[in-house]
Amino acid sequence: MVLRLKIRRQEGTKEAYYQRFEIPYQEGMTLLSALQKIKEDIDPSLSFRHFCRAGICGTCTIMVNGFPKLACKEQALPYALFGEEVLIEPIRNFKVIRDLAVDNEGVIERVKSLRLWIREQAKDPRINPELSRKIENSADCILCLACQSYCPQVLEENYAGPLFFAKLFRFFQDPREEEKELRVNQAIKEGNLYHCLSCNKCNLVCPKEVEPATLIRELMQSMDVAS
Ligand code: FES
Repeated sequence: MVLRLKIRRQEGTKEAYYQRFEIPYQEGMTLLSALQKIKEDIDPSLSFRHFCRAGICGTCTIMVNGFPKLACKEQALPYALFGEEVLIEPIRNFKVIRDLAVDNEGVIERVKSLRLWIREQAKDPRINPELSRKIENSADCILCLACQSYCPQVLEENYAGPLFFAKLFRFFQDPREEEKELRVNQAIKEGNLYHCLSCNKCNLVCPKEVEPATLIRELMQSMDVAS
């Protein structure tokens, strides 16, 4: 079987173009291993990010036929089996550095500005199992940017986006966080929480089933109760 890929290529600010590749399918091949095969055997200049190859680090997200996916988890078999050409593009809503690699510096800066970590040294580091389950989804976020790339509001009105609020939810619930009120205010002022359309697109594409839109709605409800 042959795997056919159509990949968006771009070098810096030069005009983008699409390039087609065909490689032999190998058992267990993922789209990440297919990209690596192309890089090794056909075009060493093809650029993309990856690290863990196990769905943990969140660096390999690409658009596959218009949907954000973790390249290391997306199996190539169904595409090869049906002879379907796979459209591979960089994730949206981010500046392309080269080919499939995008500039994610802004994400790191926003994580810092919203200070997405426990601020106080916990007196008691334990949390009960019920709460642990409640924040499990939020804690599962791997910062893969799939939700950010599929959110229609991200580029508008300085809305922080689903990724940050999904992360924030965890700290808002965690009893070891002693500045909950501050967090709520930050969410409103810096992240424009209420700009979320509740369209659920982020829920649809999150590879870890974090359900950012659901967590955002819970955050909004918590804030309505608090006000
Ligand atoms: Fe780490 Fe895909 S390479 S999530």
